[in-house]
Amino acid sequence: MLPDPGARGARARPPRRRPLISRTDRSAPAFRRPPLIAVHGVAKTYELGPIHVHALRDVSLLIERGDFVAIMGSSGSGKSTLMNILGCLDVPSTGRYLIDGTDVGVMDEDDLSDLRNRKIGFIFQSFNLVARMSALANVELPLAYAGVGRADRRRRATEALGAVGMANRIGHQPSELSGGQQQRVAVARAIVTNPSLILADEPTGNLDSHSTREVLLIFSRLNEEGRTVVLITHEADVAAQAKRVIRLSDGAIVDDRRYGPVRAARAAPRDRDAPPPASTEEARP
Ligand SMILES: Nc1ncnc2c1ncn2[C@@H]1O[C@H](COP(=O)(O)OP(=O)(O)OP(=O)(O)O)[C@@H](O)[C@H]1O
Ligand SMILES: [Mg+2]
Repeated sequence: MLPDPGARGARARPPRRRPLISRTDRSAPAFRRPPLIAVHGVAKTYELGPIHVHALRDVSLLIERGDFVAIMGSSGSGKSTLMNILGCLDVPSTGRYLIDGTDVGVMDEDDLSDLRNRKIGFIFQSFNLVARMSALANVELPLAYAGVGRADRRRRATEALGAVGMANRIGHQPSELSGGQQQRVAVARAIVTNPSLILADEPTGNLDSHSTREVLLIFSRLNEEGRTVVLITHEADVAAQAKRVIRLSDGAIVDDRRYGPVRAARAAPRDRDAPPPASTEEARP
């Protein structure tokens, strides 16, 4: 028989019904919540036979919810490697990565794909749309993977396409769309699951200046809605839209500047004395 706790004179405490601080309580003040992204001493080394490629070396980085971060650096500096780790598409060789306070290193493949689907929206330079599917079907895909029913899928995909100004092209296949339009469909596909984190690897790299402006406006709007945006770019004008610019060189962070407050509706105008983020075009081969 279990001992009666009252028998030793201890006053029995009623069972606690709720945790004192719920990690999922969205109304909790921001200071109680962990940063959305916390990278601690991350390195990534690719082993190519006898050659060790140090793509990332001891990278540590915190990103708050609502920030808009541009990652710059010359070709081969480790930008995509870092982005793939942030997006849980790749794992660090050493170090820890926590997303929303959860250590990604202890998650299994199912948890990771669930996390990617629920929290993260990806946009790539080459759009990565499925060729013989309509814009609508492309945008429905992540919802189909998440098991969302057909009618709901259609409604949400149509809404997402409307949000990027593509409502009048939902039946078009990628080959029937311009580069800028394809990228807007890719943005719609990234936001249709309502992710809190948008990761974009050179999203405007294949676009002309007009489409670049259109796509950047969409990113700014997503950020104003409270989403965290991290994008890789080689273009100074693209980085100028961000609130913070991080520069990588040879796998390490060599510069990290803030140009606007995290929670401001828009990035503040640049400090006249601060040098603008330099373009790395000249460093490209
Ligand atoms: N799968 C891989 N296997 C081996 N080496 C790799 C692999 N992926 C990347 N690397 C190497 O890691 C380094 C960083 O590559 P990464 O793709 O992160 O650069 P990047 O900054 O995105 O460059 P770019 O601006 O050209 O896209 C490079 O030296 C690259 O050759
Ligand atoms: Mg890259």
